[in-house]
Amino acid sequence: MSALTKLELAGRTVLVTGSSRGIGRATAQLLHQRGASVIVHARSASAHTDSLISLFGNRGALVTGDLQDAGGAREVWSRAERAFGHIDVLVNNAGAWLPSSLEPASEWDAGWEANLGLNLIAPAELSRRAILHFRKRRGGIIVNLASRSSHRGDDAEHLAYGAAKGGLLALTKGIARGYGHEGVLAYAVAPGWVATDLADGALEQSVLDALPLGEVTPPSDVAEVIAFLATGRARHTTGSTIDITGADYVR
Ligand SMILES: NC(=O)c1ccc[n+]([C@@H]2O[C@H](COP(=O)([O-])OP(=O)(O)OC[C@H]3O[C@@H](n4cnc5c(N)ncnc54)[C@H](O)[C@@H]3O)[C@@H](O)[C@H]2O)c1
Repeated sequence: MSALTKLELAGRTVLVTGSSRGIGRATAQLLHQRGASVIVHARSASAHTDSLISLFGNRGALVTGDLQDAGGAREVWSRAERAFGHIDVLVNNAGAWLPSSLEPASEWDAGWEANLGLNLIAPAELSRRAILHFRKRRGGIIVNLASRSSHRGDDAEHLAYGAAKGGLLALTKGIARGYGHEGVLAYAVAPGWVATDLADGALEQSVLDALPLGEVTPPSDVAEVIAFLATGRARHTTGSTIDITGADYVR
């Protein structure tokens, strides 16, 4: 890696939600390696967040908060803005693959509320705060973690998850179209199976056998794409979704 690539995010401050583990953690680490100051977000502090923060030194800060709580996203943004005084890039990564069974109706209701709350309404609120912040600073970047479910829908037990992730794509496109003239860029990335806790329980042998690259996507591949988008080097990609499925799902 050249020295230039290594430092191409120097001077930028990035908030990565849900960065205690999985894709968020890999992304936070790569952004830091490339020179960014990184605001790590987690539901609560833990050994996982402590290790990242000590590694990041004075280019790291931790904010906590449950994005499913009423007002949670608002609080997280306010704390994050205070950490370094400004934010250049928001990565809406926190999410969960929550079930929404048809029956009983109470589980359906709870599943929809939880999925929409965490996977769509929280990123929308964080995006709202980011746009208000970015327009004062004449620009900024939002990267939303969508999914192949955004395009394809999800399985029978996860209809609400697919709907929330589909909504995230429309949100991304709307931001790109509506606020591009104020310097706000918005992208979505849509992974297939990524080797994290989220996918762990669902990866049966038949799923693994069918993967064209013969392996589940490593979180580092997703992090690479996000780190590139965070540079702002491809401004006219705004509004687009980048698929990261190892050709397991091709549109
Ligand atoms: N792993 C996959 O196969 C896959 C595929 C497509 C999309 N995605 C998306 O990628 C993103 C990251 O997923 P991952 O695979 O790294 O999952 P993960 O479970 O490893 O990590 C998710 C992160 O979100 C945080 N989070 C969950 N609920 C939260 C809440 N209520 N409040 C605050 N933080 C919360 C977790 O603490 C964790 O840090 C998610 O948006 C997910 O939907 C993952």
